[in-house]
Amino acid sequence: AGQFAVFGHPIGHSLSPHIHQAFARQFGIDLEYRTIDAAPGGFDAAVRRFFADGGCGANVTLPHKTAAFAMADERSESAQRAGTANVLTPLPGGRLAAHNTDGDGMVRDITERHSVDLRGHTALLLGAGGAAHGVAWSLLDAGVDTLTIVNRTPEAADALADAIGEPARAHTRYWEDLADLGAFDLIVNATSAGVLGKSLDLPFAVVGNRALCYDLSYGTAAAGFLAWARTAGARYAFDGLGMLIETAADAFELWHGKRPDTDPVYADLRKQFG
Ligand code: ATR
Repeated sequence: AGQFAVFGHPIGHSLSPHIHQAFARQFGIDLEYRTIDAAPGGFDAAVRRFFADGGCGANVTLPHKTAAFAMADERSESAQRAGTANVLTPLPGGRLAAHNTDGDGMVRDITERHSVDLRGHTALLLGAGGAAHGVAWSLLDAGVDTLTIVNRTPEAADALADAIGEPARAHTRYWEDLADLGAFDLIVNATSAGVLGKSLDLPFAVVGNRALCYDLSYGTAAAGFLAWARTAGARYAFDGLGMLIETAADAFELWHGKRPDTDPVYADLRKQFG
């Protein structure tokens, strides 16, 4: 059976093994998929060992996405834009290819699963770290009209806007000024506040009357932002569970050449996450 794994730290509660096994069953594919907990200093060596031992593909999650990108020999366009990778695939000669499927997975979750067309939306991106880099270009590709990037530390927001290099569409504002920016159609929480157990201080005024609020995380990490969104009157409030499953489907297709049906896996996990 092919050997697959997800690297993270911590990694114990990862849904990736369950998702990949569910996809594999759709095609009668026999595979092994395990979690590998690698402390930051040991990530590169753990990845090299995994592939030297015959590993067929790896997913990479926090805090290793930048390191995964850095150690790869070939990088897809989406990985280059984000500067991070969530998928590593072996190439001949011990080389590695890096992909980033996060942004496309999020957009597919919004536009296909939730049937919301993002074209013409004004978008507010909260955060400017790895997760925000992973989705920013995909939002622009999906046709959002403008992308306003707001981060607690303004320099990081400016760096992301500079990397995008489309000042007419993607620009930054200060977190302190959020209440004065008007209402947005799409608000994406790409901060790690929820994961860290912190709540965000956000004004209701940013939520437009057709607003879609999206948290890249799921479970308890997303609960605070989604509760805020509903209280603010958002039309839609979605967590990132569907995004996780879509990004896994992209990795599965890269490795197995087959497109899994994500809907039954989503329906099953949704029962667990409310
Ligand atoms: P990730 O890979 O999850 O994006 P990261 O690269 O460390 O992790 O980025 C975390 C993001 O969440 C940053 O934009 C961070 O803001 P700073 O650049 O100011 O650190 C943001 N963040 C984390 N905790 C936050 C909080 N309590 N309030 C607002 N933003 C927060």
